Amino acid sequence: MVKVPEKATPFFAYAPAPESRAIVDIAASYGLFIDGEFVEGHAKSFKTINPATEEVLAELSEADETDVDLAVRAARRAYTRVWSRMPGSERAKYLFRIARIMQERGRELAVLESIDNGKPIKESRDIDIPVAAAHFFYYAGWADKLSYAGQGVNPQPLGVAGQIIPWNFPLLMLAWKIAPALAAGNTVVLKPAETTSLTALLFAEICQQADLPPGVVNIITGAGSTGQALVSHPDVDKIAFTGSTEIGKSIARTVAGTKKRVTLELGGKAANIVFDDAPLDQAVEGIVNGIFFNQGHVCCAGSRLLVQESIAEELLEKLKRRMSTLRVGDPLDKNTDIGAINSAEQLRKIRTLSEIGEAEGGERWSPPCDLPENGFWFPPTVFTGVTQAHRIAREEIFGPVLSTLTFRTPAEAVEKANNTPFGLSAGVWTDKGSRILWMANQLRAGVVWANTFNKFDPTSPFGGYKESGYGREGGLPGLAAYLKGTD
Ligand code: NAI
Ligand code: MG
Repeated sequence: MVKVPEKATPFFAYAPAPESRAIVDIAASYGLFIDGEFVEGHAKSFKTINPATEEVLAELSEADETDVDLAVRAARRAYTRVWSRMPGSERAKYLFRIARIMQERGRELAVLESIDNGKPIKESRDIDIPVAAAHFFYYAGWADKLSYAGQGVNPQPLGVAGQIIPWNFPLLMLAWKIAPALAAGNTVVLKPAETTSLTALLFAEICQQADLPPGVVNIITGAGSTGQALVSHPDVDKIAFTGSTEIGKSIARTVAGTKKRVTLELGGKAANIVFDDAPLDQAVEGIVNGIFFNQGHVCCAGSRLLVQESIAEELLEKLKRRMSTLRVGDPLDKNTDIGAINSAEQLRKIRTLSEIGEAEGGERWSPPCDLPENGFWFPPTVFTGVTQAHRIAREEIFGPVLSTLTFRTPAEAVEKANNTPFGLSAGVWTDKGSRILWMANQLRAGVVWANTFNKFDPTSPFGGYKESGYGREGGLPGLAAYLKGTD
């Protein structure tokens, strides 16, 4: 049996260290950003809340088909008249300017992201916003070098891109989508997720501040039906989607038989594999980062821990001890490790799957932690005694819930890791370089991290196998996804 202290006894207690929200100015209501201006939507409105308090933050417009059409027309006009004709070196200047403004307004963006999404300020401040800006810097550098992108000597943009993003990394996913599209000479209509639209609307303001020609970027808020209208609009040349596998499949069905290009970044159930020769303390940090980063709302989260049987007990004891030190609570507190679950709906899903995990025979453990009364919260949780047949080993939970399985040989680790309909990422922890390379070749996953996890860089392509989707974002492949080859 694993012995874990009832309550970790810290050497000292952390005093509250809240980041001020005074820097953020949230309007009572927002319109849609079409053709360089904020305009009223034609249909209903909806509210966006702070998931840590359930306080209503603002009222947003839900774009209907008419609005989507206006946005696509604006994007088409900007594409033919301005953006596709502009020399790449000129487009680059706009992208560099946007990147710099994102840095200058980084604190404002980070606070707003944490308020609207529930993620800890230390993550939005140190990861989401800087990595988002880094994508604009990186792709700005490509805008005047497209002939070296491996797509022929004179590659052409695709036209108007419809982009639909999820709620887990709102501004970062926006950057992954918009930066390469614009660098390649496309114009975009982007729909943020309905629970996390505020940083996209602030980005719209940044486009105005950067004097980006009207219509190059259009931001339309709304839920599934808005996304559907964008996907089926006849004048959209490319759809880029990140979200659930279910909606990804429905998008693939909608565009089948049309000329639209598609990239899909869908779900995952990544194996994080720890061998008996791994540095265990380091591996524990990697496991914690793999599953508790961003409350586990991460498509490439290391949600299946595969641990070699001989070290399972020791590793789990260390892991539980470490989990007892995680601080759950106010996302704006600089000491917070785990913030709020993004929505009541997502919390329900995490609870349901965790209950199913117990009912199917998994052993559930969470450290004692005081959760705030209002808002949506779930404690860091680990399941042991999980088998391949359990739903919590197969389905994406998208929350701070880790399923643990054991293995005896490298071949068994590979077998178990690949036994999933997904294939987005994987982690390998071992001291042996040769084993890392062998494992990386065997694992059917778009990204394999070795002795680390959840590292993101604009130069590095990211994407999936199987039901995790197709196409790559980031790096050169991410640029190629927005270009027509000329060879
Ligand atoms: P979702 O796939 O419904 O939403 C993602 C985006 O697609 C949002 O902007 C949404 O408004 C839009 N959308 C919804 N229906 C659409 C349609 N028919 N056509 C076009 N766009 C549409 O994801 P949801 O419901 O927020 O989360 C459900 C589950 O999906 C999560 O529990 C998680 O397991 C998974 N998920 C995975 C993500 C990933 O990055 N791999 C991101 C978000 C969710
Ligand atoms: Mg949905």
